[in-house]
Amino acid sequence: MKTIKDIDVAGKTVLVRADVDIPRFPDCDISVNDQRLRSFIPTLKYLIKQGARVAICGHLSRPYGRVIPELSLRPVAQHLEKLSGETINFCIDCVGRAAQTAIRQLKPGEVVMLENLRFHLGESANEHDFAKELAGLADVYVMDAFATCHRNHASIATAPRIAPQCVAGISLAHEVGMLNKVTTEPERPLSVMLGGLKVSTIVGIMQDLLPQTDTIMLGGALANTFLAAQGCNMGASVFEPGQLDQARELMVEAGVVGCRLVLPHDVVVQNESDRDAAAQIKAVDALGNDDAVMDIGPETLKNWEKALSGAKTVVWSGPLGHTEEEQFQKGTRQMAAFVSGMDAYRVAGGGETVELIYQMKLGEKFDAISTGGNALLSYLEGKHMPGLMALKQSSYPAPNVDINAA
Ligand code: 3PG
Repeated sequence: MKTIKDIDVAGKTVLVRADVDIPRFPDCDISVNDQRLRSFIPTLKYLIKQGARVAICGHLSRPYGRVIPELSLRPVAQHLEKLSGETINFCIDCVGRAAQTAIRQLKPGEVVMLENLRFHLGESANEHDFAKELAGLADVYVMDAFATCHRNHASIATAPRIAPQCVAGISLAHEVGMLNKVTTEPERPLSVMLGGLKVSTIVGIMQDLLPQTDTIMLGGALANTFLAAQGCNMGASVFEPGQLDQARELMVEAGVVGCRLVLPHDVVVQNESDRDAAAQIKAVDALGNDDAVMDIGPETLKNWEKALSGAKTVVWSGPLGHTEEEQFQKGTRQMAAFVSGMDAYRVAGGGETVELIYQMKLGEKFDAISTGGNALLSYLEGKHMPGLMALKQSSYPAPNVDINAA
C-alpha cells in the first residue's frame, strides 16, 4: 500500500479523508472515546512537517443530506487542535467556493478542517459529481478513514479513484497492517470474542473465521440467541427469535471444523417487572420469565479466562453485557483487564468495547485497537471494502489524470 511517505507532498495541497466520526455527549462535549482523532495525528503531523497545505474532510453521524448544526465538525476541529497542538482552521462547507477559497489560502504547513461531508446528499449517495468536486479540491487525496472503508460513499469509493493522485494515510496503512496479522496466518491458537452484535451481522464473520479459529466466545445479546437455540428459556432477555435456526447451523459448523464455541454458563439478570430489585446471578438454564440477561456471571468469567489461556492471538469486538449501565460493566471490564495482560497478539475493536478499554487506561496494552466497528468486522470477514478497493484502483503515481474524463 503506497502511503504519504512514498510521495513528495511539500508545498502541495492535500485533502485527507479522515475518521472524525467520534461519539459525543448530547451537550456537544467530546466523549472520552476520541481514539479516532488520536489515531489520525501521525498523518496530520507528518503532512504539516513536510510542508503540505492540509485540508481534512470527514463525516459526523448521519445527517442524511441536511445541515444539522449539532452535527457540525467545528467542535471536532477544536478538539483535534487541543489533542495535536496544531492550529486547525475551520471551513463552513466541504465543497464549492467556500472550500476552494479556504484551501487556496493555506500556506505550507497550515491546516483546515472542512464541514461534515454528510451535510450533502451526494456523499452517502456516492454521486459522481460530488466526488469529482472533492477530488478536484487538492493535488493529492489521502485516504485515512479505515472505519468508513466499508461504505460505498463518494469520499470513500469514488474520490480516491478519480483524484489526481491518491495514497493511504499513516493510520489506515498501520491499521490494515495490524489486521492482516490476524487474517493472514495468525499465530495459533486463535480466540475470537464477540458480543453486542446481531446474529445476522456475525454469520459471515463466523463462517469465514471458523476454520482458522480455535475458540469463539460469545457474550451479550448475541449469546442469548445461541442459548435460546440450545433450548434455554431466555425470559425477558434481548435475543433474536428469528435467528435460532441460523445459530444452530453455526453451532453445527463449528463442531465440524473443530472450533470450540463457548457460551456463558451463568449470567447476571435483572427482573424486568421489578427493576428496583437487586440483580441476581443465575445459571443460564434457570432463568424465570421476567429475567433479562444483563452481563456474564462470575463462573463464566473464570471459565473464559481458562478458555483464553494459551491463546496466541485474541480478537475481541463488542461488549459482553449491557455496558450502558455501570453495574453491568463488570464482565466486559474484567475480560478487558485479563486480555490486556495476556502474552498474545491482542486486537480489539467496536465503539463501546474500545471506550471501556480507554476508560480503564488499557489501550496501550493491546497490540492493535481498531478504529472501526462494522469496518473491522467487514475486514475480518474478507468482505468487499469500497474504500480499500478504490485506493487500490487509484492513480498512484499518475501525474496526468484528467478527472473530468474519469
Ligand atoms: C462508524 O462509526 O462505524 C463509521 O464512522 C461509519 O459510520 P456509519 O455507520 O454512519 O456509516
